[in-house]
Amino acid sequence: MDNFDTDVIVVGAGPMGATTALSLASQGVRVLAINKYSWVSRTPRAHITNQRAMEVLRALGIEDRVVREALPWEEMGDISFSTSFAGEEVARVRAWGSGETRKGDYLAASPCTMLDIPQSLLEPILIDEASRRGAMFAFNTEYLSHVQDEDGVTVRMCNRVSGEEFEQRARYLVGADGARSMVLNDAGLGVEGLPPRDGTIYVEFSADLTRYVQHRPSSLHWILSQKVGNGELGMALLRAIRPWNHWIAGWGFDAADDEPDLSEEAVLARLRDLVGDPDVDIGILGVSTWFVNELYAPIYSNGRVFCGGDAVHRHPPSGGLGSNTCLQDAFNLAWKLAYVIKGYASPQLLETYTAERAPVGKQVVTRANGFRGDYAPMLKVLFGGGGPQGLARGLATLKGATPEGAAARSSLERALARKDIEYNGHGTQMDLRYRSSAVISDGDEWADEADEGLFAHATSRPGAKVPHAWVVDHEGRRTSTLDVASADSFTLLIGLGGNVWAEAAEAVDAPYLHTVVIGGDSVKDLYFEWHRVREVADNGAILVRPDGIVAWRSVGSPATVGDATTELRSALGQILGSRVATST
Ligand code: FDA
Repeated sequence: MDNFDTDVIVVGAGPMGATTALSLASQGVRVLAINKYSWVSRTPRAHITNQRAMEVLRALGIEDRVVREALPWEEMGDISFSTSFAGEEVARVRAWGSGETRKGDYLAASPCTMLDIPQSLLEPILIDEASRRGAMFAFNTEYLSHVQDEDGVTVRMCNRVSGEEFEQRARYLVGADGARSMVLNDAGLGVEGLPPRDGTIYVEFSADLTRYVQHRPSSLHWILSQKVGNGELGMALLRAIRPWNHWIAGWGFDAADDEPDLSEEAVLARLRDLVGDPDVDIGILGVSTWFVNELYAPIYSNGRVFCGGDAVHRHPPSGGLGSNTCLQDAFNLAWKLAYVIKGYASPQLLETYTAERAPVGKQVVTRANGFRGDYAPMLKVLFGGGGPQGLARGLATLKGATPEGAAARSSLERALARKDIEYNGHGTQMDLRYRSSAVISDGDEWADEADEGLFAHATSRPGAKVPHAWVVDHEGRRTSTLDVASADSFTLLIGLGGNVWAEAAEAVDAPYLHTVVIGGDSVKDLYFEWHRVREVADNGAILVRPDGIVAWRSVGSPATVGDATTELRSALGQILGSRVATST
C-alpha cells in the first residue's frame, strides 16, 4: 500500500484520455480516468483513422474490434466535388491512398490499413478495453483544480450527480481535457498561435442517400454552392457517419457576422439544397458549431502534470489528424509514465514527452491549417472569379470548348493535384522523427523532406518508427515486425549473425528487455523484406522502445560480448536516464 489513491489520474475520456488509460492499464499501472459528462462523445467528430493510429490500436490489442465497427479503407476513397449530392459532379479526388498510384505505398508501409471510425464508436471500445484491464473510469466527475508537490498531485473533483467535492491523490496527473483544457492552464502551461476564426455549422442528420454514393463510395463529399460562400472554404461538406443513411453536413459562417440562423427551418432548407433531391426524407439529429483553431502548446508538462491531445494542439479537421495525433501522444506518454512508476527509468525520461511530441503537434497544427488555404486556387477556378453568378460562370467556363475552358481545366487539375498533400499525405501521417534523450542519434541529420509529407520514408534510424516488414512466425503465419516488437518492453531486433548482441542482452538482464532474432526459427525473414529495410548488417542490432520507436541501433557488432554488453547497457541507461535495472 502507498499514500496514493491511484498512480495516475487522467482528466478526460476522449481519444487522448481513454488511450492513455488503456495503455497504462495494459502495463499494470493503476489509473483513474474522469469525465465531466455521463458518457462519451455524443457527436461523431473524428473519423479518419490513419495507419499510424491503427498501429497504436494494434499494439494495444484492439485493432480487430475497431475494424469490425469501421467503414473499411476501400469505401473511404473517392472524395467528390459537386453542386449538390444529386447535382452535377465536377471533380473527384482519390483519397487516403486509395488510388492505384498510392495504394502500394500504403500497403508497404504498415500491417494496418486506414479506416473510418466515428469517435463516438471508437471511444466506447477504448474505455471498455481499458476497464477490462483494470483502469477505473468515473463519469459525471468534474476536474476542479490540482496542487502538486514533490511526491504527487492532489486533484480536487466534483461528483456532478451529488454535487459533492472530494480529493484524490496520485503520482501523476494527465490533462486530456480537450481544447478548453483547465489542467493546461492550472499547470501554468499555455498555447501559442492565432485566435479562433471561421465558424462552421455542423448538422447531424439521417437520410438514405445510398443511391448517390453507392457507386462512388466515400465518407467525404464537397458541395459547391453560392449559398454557402461564407468562411474560408466556401464549400459545404457532406460526411457519411454510417453508410449511407447517417450523415453530417457542415458549412461555414462568418464569425464576424451576427449569430448564424440555426432554426430547424433554416437548417432543413440548407440540407435540402446540399442533397439536391426534394424527395429524400431528412431527419435532423443535432446541430452544433465550431471554430477553426491554430494553436499549439510549446511545452506539454510541468512537474508531475502532463497534457496531451486537443489540450495541446488545436486545429481544423482538414487532413483528419486530430484524434490520430491524440492517440500517439497517449502512446508516447504512457510507457514513459509506466517505466518511471515501475522504477525502470528516472523521471528525466518524462521530459522527453515534450521534446518528442511538441514538434509533432506544431507541425500538425500548421499543416491542417495550410490544407484549408490550399483550396484557394481550386475555388478561384470553380467560382469563376467571384460574385453572385461566379459558380455558374466558373462551371460554364470549365465545360467550354474554348481556350478559356482548356486553361480552366488545366488550372483545376493543378489545384486538385495540390490537394494530394492533404488527402494522400502519407508522410504526414506516418513519419515520426523524434529527437530527445530517449533516442540515441546516429549522428546523421534527417534528410530534408522536400515532399511536404506526401510520401512516407521508412527507416530504422533512431527516432523513427521501426519499419514494417512482413516476416513469418514459427507456425508459418505472416506477421509484422511491428508485432514482434513488444508494446510493454524494449525489443532488441537482431539477425542470425547477432549472437554477440543476444549474449549481451542476456548479460544486461533487464526485466524490460527481450531479444528477437529475425531470420531464425521463430521469426523467419522468408520474403527478405526485413533484410531490405533494416539498414544494419546481419550482425547489427536495433533497439525498439515499447512505443515502436527505434531508440538506438548498431550497424554491426563489437568483437566481444563484453564490449557489446557495455554498449547496450550504456544505451539503455542513457535512454531511461537511470542505471539499468536487472531481473534479479
Ligand atoms: P476531447 O475533446 O475529445 O475529450 C476531452 C475529454 O475531457 C472529454 O471526455 C470531456 O468530457 C473531458 N473533460 C473536459 N473538461 C473536463 C473537466 N473539467 N473535468 C472532467 N472531464 C473533462 N480528428 C481526426 O483524427 N480525424 C478526423 O477525421 C477528425 N474530424 C473532426 C471533425 C470535427 C467536426 C471535429 C470538431 C474534430 C475532428 N477531429 C478529427 C478532431 C478530434 O475530434 C479531436 O482532435 C479529438 O476529439 C481530441 O481528443 P481529446 O481526447 O484530446 O479531447
